[in-house]
Amino acid sequence: MRNLSPENVTEALTRVFDKTPDPRLKELLCTLVRYLHNYAREVQLRPEEWAFAMDAMLRAGKISDTRRNEFIMFSDVLGLSAVVDMMNGAGGKGETAFSQLGPFFEDGLPLAPSHIVDLRATPDGVLPGDPVLFIGSVVSGGGEPVAGAYVDAWQTDVDGLYDLQRPELKGASRLRCRLRTNEDGQFVLKTIRPLGYTAPMDGPGGQMLTATHRNIWRPAHFHFRIGAEGHRTLVTELFPEGDEHLDNDVAFGVRSSLVLTLPECDSQELAREWDMPVPFKKVDYRFELAKAQ
Ligand SMILES: [Fe+2]
Repeated sequence: MRNLSPENVTEALTRVFDKTPDPRLKELLCTLVRYLHNYAREVQLRPEEWAFAMDAMLRAGKISDTRRNEFIMFSDVLGLSAVVDMMNGAGGKGETAFSQLGPFFEDGLPLAPSHIVDLRATPDGVLPGDPVLFIGSVVSGGGEPVAGAYVDAWQTDVDGLYDLQRPELKGASRLRCRLRTNEDGQFVLKTIRPLGYTAPMDGPGGQMLTATHRNIWRPAHFHFRIGAEGHRTLVTELFPEGDEHLDNDVAFGVRSSLVLTLPECDSQELAREWDMPVPFKKVDYRFELAKAQ
Protein backbone atom coordinates (compact mmCIF):
# COMPACT_ATOMS: atom_id res chain seq x y z
CA MET A 1 0.00 0.00 0.00
CA ARG A 2 2.29 2.77 -1.25
CA ASN A 3 1.58 6.08 -2.93
CA LEU A 4 -1.46 6.76 -0.78
CA SER A 5 -3.17 10.11 -1.26
CA PRO A 6 -6.16 11.75 0.42
CA GLU A 7 -8.12 10.70 -2.67
CA ASN A 8 -7.29 6.98 -2.72
CA VAL A 9 -6.70 6.20 0.97
CA THR A 10 -10.37 5.52 1.65
CA GLU A 11 -10.63 2.90 -1.09
CA ALA A 12 -7.40 1.30 0.15
CA LEU A 13 -8.69 1.20 3.70
CA THR A 14 -11.99 -0.43 2.88
CA ARG A 15 -10.13 -3.21 0.98
CA VAL A 16 -8.29 -4.26 4.17
CA PHE A 17 -11.64 -5.49 5.47
CA ASP A 18 -12.18 -7.80 2.45
CA LYS A 19 -11.54 -10.97 4.44
CA THR A 20 -13.92 -10.12 7.30
CA PRO A 21 -16.08 -13.25 7.63
CA ASP A 22 -19.07 -11.41 9.14
CA PRO A 23 -20.67 -9.34 6.32
CA ARG A 24 -22.45 -7.02 8.76
CA LEU A 25 -19.20 -6.23 10.57
CA LYS A 26 -17.56 -5.55 7.23
CA GLU A 27 -20.35 -3.18 6.23
CA LEU A 28 -20.22 -1.32 9.56
CA LEU A 29 -16.45 -0.82 9.38
CA CYS A 30 -16.15 0.04 5.69
CA THR A 31 -18.96 2.60 5.90
CA LEU A 32 -17.52 4.10 9.08
CA VAL A 33 -14.14 4.56 7.40
CA ARG A 34 -15.76 6.19 4.38
CA TYR A 35 -17.74 8.68 6.49
CA LEU A 36 -14.80 9.50 8.78
CA HIS A 37 -12.51 10.16 5.83
CA ASN A 38 -15.12 12.23 4.03
CA TYR A 39 -15.66 14.24 7.19
CA ALA A 40 -11.93 14.97 7.52
CA ARG A 41 -11.72 15.99 3.86
CA GLU A 42 -14.86 18.15 3.97
CA VAL A 43 -13.84 20.18 7.03
CA GLN A 44 -10.13 20.06 6.13
CA LEU A 45 -9.46 18.67 9.60
CA ARG A 46 -6.34 20.19 11.23
CA PRO A 47 -3.90 18.13 13.37
CA GLU A 48 -4.63 20.14 16.52
CA GLU A 49 -8.39 19.64 16.05
CA TRP A 50 -7.90 15.91 15.55
CA ALA A 51 -5.69 15.79 18.69
CA PHE A 52 -8.34 17.67 20.68
CA ALA A 53 -10.99 15.13 19.64
CA MET A 54 -8.71 12.22 20.62
CA ASP A 55 -8.06 13.86 23.98
CA ALA A 56 -11.81 14.41 24.49
CA MET A 57 -12.38 10.68 23.92
CA LEU A 58 -9.60 9.86 26.36
CA ARG A 59 -11.21 12.14 28.96
CA ALA A 60 -14.63 10.61 28.23
CA GLY A 61 -13.19 7.19 29.00
CA LYS A 62 -11.50 8.36 32.19
CA ILE A 63 -14.65 10.00 33.57
CA SER A 64 -16.80 6.95 32.76
CA ASP A 65 -17.30 3.98 35.07
CA THR A 66 -19.95 1.36 35.76
CA ARG A 67 -22.31 4.10 36.93
CA ARG A 68 -21.60 6.79 34.36
CA ASN A 69 -21.00 6.59 30.63
CA GLU A 70 -19.85 9.77 28.87
CA PHE A 71 -20.07 8.05 25.48
CA ILE A 72 -23.82 7.53 25.96
CA MET A 73 -24.05 11.22 26.79
CA PHE A 74 -22.26 12.15 23.55
CA SER A 75 -24.59 9.82 21.64
CA ASP A 76 -27.62 11.44 23.32
CA VAL A 77 -26.65 15.09 22.90
CA LEU A 78 -25.51 14.58 19.30
CA GLY A 79 -28.90 13.02 18.49
CA LEU A 80 -27.44 9.63 17.49
CA SER A 81 -29.45 7.81 20.17
CA ALA A 82 -32.61 9.48 18.85
CA VAL A 83 -31.86 8.44 15.25
CA VAL A 84 -31.28 4.82 16.29
CA ASP A 85 -34.42 4.82 18.47
CA MET A 86 -36.63 6.29 15.77
CA MET A 87 -35.30 3.99 13.03
CA ASN A 88 -35.77 0.90 15.14
CA GLY A 89 -39.04 1.67 16.90
CA ALA A 90 -42.29 1.71 14.93
CA GLY A 91 -43.73 4.44 17.16
CA GLY A 92 -47.51 4.38 17.02
CA LYS A 93 -47.99 1.41 14.67
CA GLY A 94 -48.73 -1.30 17.21
CA GLU A 95 -45.64 -0.47 19.21
CA THR A 96 -44.93 2.25 21.73
CA ALA A 97 -42.32 4.73 20.46
CA PHE A 98 -38.77 4.04 21.54
CA SER A 99 -36.81 6.59 23.50
CA GLN A 100 -33.43 6.42 25.02
CA LEU A 101 -32.09 4.17 27.74
CA GLY A 102 -29.85 6.98 28.98
CA PRO A 103 -26.78 6.57 31.17
CA PHE A 104 -28.57 5.76 34.43
CA PHE A 105 -30.04 2.32 33.68
CA GLU A 106 -28.92 -0.44 36.03
CA ASP A 107 -29.17 -4.01 34.80
CA GLY A 108 -29.75 -7.07 36.97
CA LEU A 109 -31.93 -5.63 39.74
CA PRO A 110 -33.60 -8.24 41.96
CA LEU A 111 -37.15 -9.03 40.85
CA ALA A 112 -39.86 -7.43 43.01
CA PRO A 113 -42.13 -10.00 44.69
CA SER A 114 -45.29 -8.44 43.25
CA HIS A 115 -46.52 -6.47 40.23
CA ILE A 116 -47.30 -3.65 42.68
CA VAL A 117 -44.24 -1.75 43.86
CA ASP A 118 -44.15 1.12 46.33
CA LEU A 119 -41.17 3.20 45.22
CA ARG A 120 -41.95 5.92 47.78
CA ALA A 121 -41.21 3.61 50.69
CA THR A 122 -37.57 3.50 51.79
CA PRO A 123 -35.84 2.24 54.95
CA ASP A 124 -35.59 5.92 55.96
CA GLY A 125 -39.30 6.65 55.52
CA VAL A 126 -41.53 7.88 52.72
CA LEU A 127 -39.75 9.88 50.03
CA PRO A 128 -40.79 13.50 49.59
CA GLY A 129 -42.39 14.46 46.30
CA ASP A 130 -45.65 14.82 44.44
CA PRO A 131 -47.29 11.36 44.81
CA VAL A 132 -48.13 9.52 41.60
CA LEU A 133 -50.07 6.29 41.14
CA PHE A 134 -48.84 4.84 37.85
CA ILE A 135 -50.95 2.00 36.49
CA GLY A 136 -49.28 0.43 33.49
CA SER A 137 -50.59 -2.24 31.18
CA VAL A 138 -48.49 -4.14 28.68
CA VAL A 139 -50.16 -5.42 25.52
CA SER A 140 -48.98 -7.26 22.46
CA GLY A 141 -49.31 -5.54 19.04
CA GLY A 142 -52.74 -7.11 18.62
CA GLY A 143 -53.97 -5.80 21.97
CA GLU A 144 -53.76 -8.97 24.09
CA PRO A 145 -52.34 -8.45 27.58
CA VAL A 146 -48.79 -9.69 28.08
CA ALA A 147 -48.60 -11.58 31.37
CA GLY A 148 -45.18 -12.01 32.96
CA ALA A 149 -43.48 -9.21 30.99
CA TYR A 150 -40.32 -7.96 32.67
CA VAL A 151 -40.56 -4.26 33.49
CA ASP A 152 -37.61 -2.15 34.60
CA ALA A 153 -38.55 1.33 35.79
CA TRP A 154 -36.28 4.11 37.04
CA GLN A 155 -36.55 7.84 37.60
CA THR A 156 -35.17 10.88 39.43
CA ASP A 157 -36.15 12.16 42.88
CA VAL A 158 -37.31 15.63 43.99
CA ASP A 159 -33.80 16.98 43.45
CA GLY A 160 -33.64 15.66 39.89
CA LEU A 161 -31.07 13.04 40.89
CA TYR A 162 -30.92 9.29 40.25
CA ASP A 163 -29.91 6.99 43.08
CA LEU A 164 -26.68 6.31 41.15
CA GLN A 165 -25.79 9.98 41.66
CA ARG A 166 -26.16 9.81 45.44
CA PRO A 167 -23.02 8.36 47.04
CA GLU A 168 -24.68 8.48 50.47
CA LEU A 169 -26.96 5.60 49.37
CA LYS A 170 -23.85 3.41 49.11
CA GLY A 171 -25.21 1.54 46.12
CA ALA A 172 -28.74 0.98 47.47
CA SER A 173 -31.50 1.31 44.87
CA ARG A 174 -33.98 4.15 45.11
CA LEU A 175 -36.84 4.97 42.75
CA ARG A 176 -36.04 2.03 40.51
CA CYS A 177 -37.32 -1.52 40.34
CA ARG A 178 -37.70 -4.64 38.23
CA LEU A 179 -41.02 -6.46 38.27
CA ARG A 180 -43.21 -8.79 36.21
CA THR A 181 -46.71 -7.95 34.99
CA ASN A 182 -49.64 -9.91 36.45
CA GLU A 183 -51.93 -12.23 34.49
CA ASP A 184 -53.75 -9.18 33.06
CA GLY A 185 -50.49 -7.65 31.82
CA GLN A 186 -50.68 -4.95 34.49
CA PHE A 187 -48.29 -3.39 36.95
CA VAL A 188 -48.59 -0.57 39.46
CA LEU A 189 -45.98 1.87 40.71
CA LYS A 190 -46.64 4.02 43.73
CA THR A 191 -44.12 6.73 43.09
CA ILE A 192 -43.48 10.47 42.87
CA ARG A 193 -43.34 12.94 40.03
CA PRO A 194 -39.76 12.94 38.67
CA LEU A 195 -37.83 16.17 38.15
CA GLY A 196 -35.84 17.23 35.11
CA TYR A 197 -32.08 17.52 35.23
CA THR A 198 -29.14 18.88 33.32
CA ALA A 199 -26.71 16.78 31.35
CA PRO A 200 -23.57 16.16 33.45
CA MET A 201 -21.38 19.20 32.80
CA ASP A 202 -18.05 18.17 34.33
CA GLY A 203 -16.83 16.06 31.40
CA PRO A 204 -16.03 16.59 27.71
CA GLY A 205 -19.72 16.24 26.78
CA GLY A 206 -20.56 19.16 29.06
CA GLN A 207 -17.59 21.09 27.64
CA MET A 208 -19.13 20.72 24.19
CA LEU A 209 -22.55 21.95 25.38
CA THR A 210 -20.92 24.98 27.03
CA ALA A 211 -18.84 25.82 23.97
CA THR A 212 -21.93 25.71 21.76
CA HIS A 213 -24.26 27.64 24.12
CA ARG A 214 -26.86 24.87 24.02
CA ASN A 215 -29.73 24.15 26.40
CA ILE A 216 -28.40 21.63 28.92
CA TRP A 217 -31.73 20.45 30.40
CA ARG A 218 -33.72 17.28 29.95
CA PRO A 219 -37.44 17.50 30.72
CA ALA A 220 -38.66 15.31 33.60
CA HIS A 221 -39.33 11.70 32.61
CA PHE A 222 -40.02 8.16 33.75
CA HIS A 223 -37.75 5.49 32.20
CA PHE A 224 -39.01 2.02 31.23
CA ARG A 225 -37.51 -1.08 29.69
CA ILE A 226 -40.08 -3.78 29.00
CA GLY A 227 -39.28 -7.23 27.65
CA ALA A 228 -41.39 -10.33 27.05
CA GLU A 229 -40.83 -13.61 25.30
CA GLY A 230 -41.60 -13.42 21.58
CA HIS A 231 -41.57 -9.61 21.58
CA ARG A 232 -39.09 -6.86 20.84
CA THR A 233 -37.78 -5.26 23.99
CA LEU A 234 -39.19 -1.77 24.41
CA VAL A 235 -36.97 0.97 25.82
CA THR A 236 -38.80 4.21 26.32
CA GLU A 237 -39.40 7.31 28.43
CA LEU A 238 -42.64 9.04 29.43
CA PHE A 239 -42.67 12.80 29.92
CA PRO A 240 -45.18 14.58 32.21
CA GLU A 241 -46.89 17.47 30.41
CA GLY A 242 -46.00 20.99 31.50
CA ASP A 243 -42.22 20.79 31.64
CA GLU A 244 -40.61 23.86 30.07
CA HIS A 245 -38.01 21.72 28.29
CA LEU A 246 -40.34 19.36 26.40
CA ASP A 247 -39.50 21.18 23.16
CA ASN A 248 -35.76 21.57 23.61
CA ASP A 249 -34.66 18.34 25.31
CA VAL A 250 -30.86 18.31 25.19
CA ALA A 251 -31.02 14.58 24.37
CA PHE A 252 -33.85 14.66 21.75
CA GLY A 253 -35.90 12.01 23.58
CA VAL A 254 -39.40 13.54 23.47
CA ARG A 255 -42.12 12.20 21.11
CA SER A 256 -45.74 13.44 21.26
CA SER A 257 -47.03 9.94 22.00
CA LEU A 258 -44.76 9.77 25.06
CA VAL A 259 -46.06 12.94 26.74
CA LEU A 260 -48.36 12.22 29.70
CA THR A 261 -51.00 14.24 31.44
CA LEU A 262 -50.93 13.70 35.21
CA PRO A 263 -54.50 14.42 36.33
CA GLU A 264 -55.02 15.05 40.01
CA CYS A 265 -57.16 12.49 41.85
CA ASP A 266 -58.84 13.22 45.18
CA SER A 267 -60.87 10.02 45.44
CA GLN A 268 -60.74 8.80 49.05
CA GLU A 269 -61.82 5.36 47.86
CA LEU A 270 -58.91 5.02 45.41
CA ALA A 271 -56.53 6.49 47.95
CA ARG A 272 -57.60 3.84 50.48
CA GLU A 273 -57.42 1.06 47.88
CA TRP A 274 -53.87 1.97 46.93
CA ASP A 275 -52.73 3.44 50.23
CA MET A 276 -51.92 6.81 48.66
CA PRO A 277 -52.08 10.27 50.26
CA VAL A 278 -54.85 12.56 48.96
CA PRO A 279 -54.58 14.19 46.51
CA PHE A 280 -52.32 12.25 44.19
CA LYS A 281 -51.69 12.16 40.47
CA LYS A 282 -52.99 9.13 38.62
CA VAL A 283 -51.62 7.85 35.34
CA ASP A 284 -52.89 4.98 33.23
CA TYR A 285 -50.59 4.09 30.38
CA ARG A 286 -50.69 1.29 27.85
CA PHE A 287 -47.36 0.02 26.56
CA GLU A 288 -47.55 -1.79 23.23
CA LEU A 289 -44.92 -4.41 22.39
CA ALA A 290 -44.28 -5.56 18.83
CA LYS A 291 -43.96 -9.26 18.08
CA ALA A 292 -40.38 -10.33 17.46
CA GLN A 293 -39.69 -11.03 13.78
FE1 LIG B 1 -33.17 10.02 32.51
